[in-house]
Amino acid sequence: MSADTPTTVPEFVSRHIGPRADDVAQMLEVIGQPSVEELIAKTAPAAILDGPSLALEAAPTEQAVIAELRAIADRNEVKTSLIGLGYYGTITPPVVKRNVLENPGWYTAYTPYQPEISQGRLEALLNFQTMVNDLTGLDVANSSLLDEGTAAAEAMTLMRRSAKAPKDAVLVVDQQVFPQSYAVIASRALPLGIEVVRTDLTGVTTADELTAAAGGKAVFGVVVQYPAADGEVRDWRALCEAVHAGKGLVTAATDLLALTLLTPPGEWGADIAVGNSQRFGVPMGFGGPHAGFMSVKKGLERSMPGRLVGVSVDEAGDPAYRLALQTREQHIRREKATSNICTAQVLLAVMASMYAVWHGPAGLRAIAERVHRHTAAARKALVAAAVDVRTESFFDTLTVSVPGRADEVLAAALAKGINLWQVDADTVQVSFDETTDRDQVEAVVEAFGAHFSGTVAADFEAGWAQDLVRTSDYLTHPVFNSYRSETAMLRYLRRLSDRDYALDRGMIPLGSCTMKLNATTEMEPITWPEFASLHPFVPTSQSEGSRKIVADLQQWLVEITGYDAVSMQPNSGATGELAGLMAIRSYHHANGQDQRDVVLIPSSAHGTNAASAVMAGFKVVVVKSTAEGSVDMEDLRGKVKEHCEVLAGIMVTYPSTHGVYEDTIVELCELVHEAGGQVYVDGANMNALVGVARPGKFGADVSHLNLHKTFCIPHGGGGPGVGPIGVRSHLAPYLPNHPLAPEAGPETSSGPSVSAPYGSASILPISWAYIRLMGGEGLRRATLAAVLNANYIAARLGDHYPVLYSQDGLVAHECILDLRGITHDTGVSVDDVAKRLIDYGFHAPTMSFPVAGTLMVEPTESEDKGELDRFCDAMIAIKKEIDEVASGAVSPEDSVLRHAPYTAESLAGEWGYSFDRKTAAFPAGVDPRSKYWPVVRRIDGAYGDRNLICTCPSPEAFED
Ligand SMILES: Cc1ncc(COP(=O)(O)O)c(C=O)c1O
Repeated sequence: MSADTPTTVPEFVSRHIGPRADDVAQMLEVIGQPSVEELIAKTAPAAILDGPSLALEAAPTEQAVIAELRAIADRNEVKTSLIGLGYYGTITPPVVKRNVLENPGWYTAYTPYQPEISQGRLEALLNFQTMVNDLTGLDVANSSLLDEGTAAAEAMTLMRRSAKAPKDAVLVVDQQVFPQSYAVIASRALPLGIEVVRTDLTGVTTADELTAAAGGKAVFGVVVQYPAADGEVRDWRALCEAVHAGKGLVTAATDLLALTLLTPPGEWGADIAVGNSQRFGVPMGFGGPHAGFMSVKKGLERSMPGRLVGVSVDEAGDPAYRLALQTREQHIRREKATSNICTAQVLLAVMASMYAVWHGPAGLRAIAERVHRHTAAARKALVAAAVDVRTESFFDTLTVSVPGRADEVLAAALAKGINLWQVDADTVQVSFDETTDRDQVEAVVEAFGAHFSGTVAADFEAGWAQDLVRTSDYLTHPVFNSYRSETAMLRYLRRLSDRDYALDRGMIPLGSCTMKLNATTEMEPITWPEFASLHPFVPTSQSEGSRKIVADLQQWLVEITGYDAVSMQPNSGATGELAGLMAIRSYHHANGQDQRDVVLIPSSAHGTNAASAVMAGFKVVVVKSTAEGSVDMEDLRGKVKEHCEVLAGIMVTYPSTHGVYEDTIVELCELVHEAGGQVYVDGANMNALVGVARPGKFGADVSHLNLHKTFCIPHGGGGPGVGPIGVRSHLAPYLPNHPLAPEAGPETSSGPSVSAPYGSASILPISWAYIRLMGGEGLRRATLAAVLNANYIAARLGDHYPVLYSQDGLVAHECILDLRGITHDTGVSVDDVAKRLIDYGFHAPTMSFPVAGTLMVEPTESEDKGELDRFCDAMIAIKKEIDEVASGAVSPEDSVLRHAPYTAESLAGEWGYSFDRKTAAFPAGVDPRSKYWPVVRRIDGAYGDRNLICTCPSPEAFED
């Protein structure tokens, strides 16, 4: 691909980048720099700066990119996939597709760390939790996990920490757990030294039989699939008792649709349920993204991984939603963390919850019954034709024995446009779903050489044992029983999204999060059936288009990062971290250097770094930061020397989480390499590097990138994400692979990092489109604009709030405003400022990361000067409010800051404050016609943690 001429860029570049040419000149003047090139030359060390722009050609127009994507999409063949194994055809209710998946009000929001401006998605997530709790019959559900395989692996470690079983106890996984889930469990168990036994647990009913099945070992946990991979609905009650007798715990990997009809795991003794909510209206998408889930028995909730939405109260005493146990969020616990999950699958969890809201309990039950009736009809016809159907007790899946004929049956089905699953040369599996109709049943039956003359029974009759037929109610809360007309549903979705602040309202200046434009053209292809409807395990001949997207992206990211190989599999940044660290681990082991088990991590690192290192089996040694925020090179030298025999590597973020390009990065890489260690550069801040410098060229061995930051995948209110990893050639043999897709990764790998071969494949066209629209020169300009914007804010606000860690007054792509002195002198906290920003119509910057008591601002290149000025003006106006406190005119407790934010309702009620209503709700610069109104006052976090409520509150809770 030839390089674009540096001076011409397509029009899209100026649509993506905010500041206009005239603005740039004014902004440079404020910063005191002659040009953006000079600015970057002064901020980034010369040793890492790249020469010419990236060899990435831009497409001429947005229309051209759509045409290219159409041609690629046409290379996928969309068949009816009845493959099952955790992925099923589903119908996204159009009202949900248009008003959630395709609505920037939902997809451009950030993780609800500022709950006062996130009540809409928090309610949707609480619906998700309630739905999962109800359907699994357990007590507390989170929202959400990355997929079923990683949820099962999280369940493994949760059981290991919580079970009172002996230290050398093992995990037993039933052989009918989905193969990809087993593979993820096995690869996660490896570095933790957990022994996993995979065996047939059918008929294991006593403690002695369990011990025998575990090879004579004690058992800390068991994972079963319900219904199982082969379709069988097994009764695991006796097994649960046997496991509990040995002080172990049981995880049921399960299917929410089946649970509308089957006795839920919580009622037959399971302690944990995990699974994937995909078939609740989320397209298969060639593997993802979908929302994984986990629910647990009471008592385990405080050790559960992931995010938990809870109900608390606000300043007015009204119920309000927030992330519960927030101070216990895994990433804040760093090396003590038990999970590294950060970005989850919020948008997909919202979709799945809305599918349940739309259909309600009766509708879901009817869908499940219909699926079962079709399955029963197929089974009956096959049995009548003396075909050997192995599955006795079934919901939607049949395993059929066809000695020596599996190929033939698959070919016959394919000739009718249907994919079945070949278990082995003699066995075929079929899983029916919501989209199945009578003709498909007929086609499937005929593919087995049988004849289908019958009709599908109109009445439901359970094809499994009566004592596993569900008798308990579910989804009784009004939210699942109120929105049956499309008008009502449309208004419910609108009501919730109206409560939230997303990028479609204004800037989200969250440092380390890169909340940039998610362009409409980039988003367009994700709902095309060619990308959305592929099962992840279709024959490769049907997925050429999607795999071309993967291959192109791999090649382009190689060019952008300077690495030699890229894996697109990890489905979040933190998953990428773990995959990258596993590659380092495998590399050392392959070289006979098993003793290398120490990873150095600077104190300023994102918490996921340490958590991932621990999950990869490493010991974490913290390297100090200097007063200027850089890695303390003296301390690093000492630690490298001290641990040189056992040094596995270092994880650094570049530019650092402090928002500076440290000029010691090259030296740091050399130091670690000399000691035999590997260098992991956390690429979450890649928005400051693209087209300017390449980690693979300045000394790093491996990085993950957050496509949901730098490469325009929207954050979805807290997910999805994509966290590909780039590696130098010596680590390439250890990139993730997949048990069911040999082409997805090298055989020499330690296993898959997630369930699907290419992770969240259906959203990769977003990043593909972004790179094609921008080209090498456009990408470089975006980086320069991101650095310009951050420096403009630092320059404008520097006189009002000290800017931390700037070098000669300059920062990289984000800046840290230091409020510690202000808090010390006045009592006004970062929290006060963050909440007050809501009244001014802003999402707060990142609070207290990486330095407590500070605000980290990352404007990104997509914000124009007008929005940057609106933000700076608001921050300056807030400083004036702080000055009133500083002068003694008002106490912090009585200040307008302490009681922020103000709802419309609060203005109408009694007003006991010393400031007036206008000051509170319409401060300087706020246009009353464009005012964003939060629906709750400041939320009491501690109250919510003390009184943990994680399901939908009753409507009475909202009464006055
Ligand atoms: C520096 C850094 N590293 C890693 C991560 C983790 O990425 P993810 O949330 O996609 O797991 C983040 C996320 O915010 C981050 O800021």
